[in-house]
Amino acid sequence: MRQLLLDCAACRRCGLAAERQQVVVSRGNPTARLMLIGEGPGAQEDSVGLPFVGRSGQLLDQLLAVAGIDSNQDAYVCNVVKCRPTGNRKPKPMELAACRPWLERQIALVNPAVILLLGATALEGVLGIKGGITSLRGKWHASEEEILHGRNLMPVLHPSYLLRFNSQAKGSPRTLTAADFQEVHRCLLAL
Ligand code: URA
Repeated sequence: MRQLLLDCAACRRCGLAAERQQVVVSRGNPTARLMLIGEGPGAQEDSVGLPFVGRSGQLLDQLLAVAGIDSNQDAYVCNVVKCRPTGNRKPKPMELAACRPWLERQIALVNPAVILLLGATALEGVLGIKGGITSLRGKWHASEEEILHGRNLMPVLHPSYLLRFNSQAKGSPRTLTAADFQEVHRCLLAL
């Protein structure tokens, strides 16, 4: 894990390297059975050097905690791209591709049984599926790709989307995500 941090810190595989303050590799437990993969660092993550420490990270932690999951003890948290796209734009396909070897090293090191894909960009970056997060969220996926084979993958809505659509009414993005996290907790208990 230490070597991975050093290698990522030296990475210049794409243009995002020029504008970053820090490479944001991970937080949480590298021996966890659960891995959370988001899109990419925002301004706060870029400045602190840890993923999901801003507003969306706080909401993510809260919703996971309600489902009995502690994001730092029970999960390893990372992103499909490790450097902040300026202005929080969506990472470009070549940036996703350039960063993919780092993500694969993370998956190999952590060896998680369960992977949550936070939002459409993680869904695209990991499984190559473009669009459809609203219908795919909360459903278990499998992949024959070598690094993903045998793992339980679930796309969920991105916490920044939940911040934008803040309703807590039945059927709202937030309550759907809370239910998805309960399902993840059940799956972890059954492993
Ligand atoms: N959004 C993400 O997708 N990742 C972070 O680390 C922070 C916000």
